[in-house]
Amino acid sequence: MGLDLKYIKGQTPLDEEEKEGLKIKTISTVAELNEFEQQNIEKAEIWIYGKVFSVDKVLDEAFIKSIHKRMLGDVWKWAGNFRSTNKNIGVDKAQIQIELRKLIDDCKFWIKNDRFPSEEIAIRFKHRLVSIHLFPNGNGRHSRILGNLLAVSLGKDEFSWGRANLVSTGNSRTNYISALKKADNNEIEPLLKFARS
Ligand SMILES: Nc1ncnc2c1ncn2[C@@H]1O[C@H](COP(=O)(O)OP(=O)(O)OP(=O)(O)O)[C@@H](O)[C@H]1O
Ligand SMILES: [Mg+2]
Repeated sequence: MGLDLKYIKGQTPLDEEEKEGLKIKTISTVAELNEFEQQNIEKAEIWIYGKVFSVDKVLDEAFIKSIHKRMLGDVWKWAGNFRSTNKNIGVDKAQIQIELRKLIDDCKFWIKNDRFPSEEIAIRFKHRLVSIHLFPNGNGRHSRILGNLLAVSLGKDEFSWGRANLVSTGNSRTNYISALKKADNNEIEPLLKFARS
């Protein structure tokens, strides 16, 4: 396939097998791909808009997968399915379901015991989701939407995530990735601050 996905800072390159999951055969450039993905994601956001899901609904494996499918299912065959290959980021493919289970249990424990403020729980959830890297692609965008959904289910507002297009390179993207790296070292505050900015 002629699709040359340029390596954008912080983005995971797709391997050949995953490129074959492209449903729309007319897509031949990265710009076109971005456009189709964006349209699909906007459709998912419209479906989500105004809905308040329960915490138990948001912290559910099937629901988490279904949101990814809604976001990218028009474009990619593998949308909503855990990745079957290893990446330079994320846990081993065999550990994805186990690590997600742990994350869900941890979140439920934090909520039940008021372990962290609600917004911080939503951000910790977002960060661990993207660190596990459930899917072949779309993990950043999926984790930001899931972070929003958990915040709303806990009675908080959605995050603004720097009010910028994080998919492209730029200041906002640089700040976002640097905040994620700090969160990797268990310093959550910068990502929380960025999410609210
Ligand atoms: N050091 C890091 N720690 C945790 N997460 C990271 C780190 N570096 C990158 N990421 C996350 O991985 C994402 C890239 O994964 P992927 O390409 O699957 O998501 P995406 O939705 O296509 O990206 P984007 O966030 O640009 O929309 C980045 O957006 C970021 O959220
Ligand atoms: Mg990507």
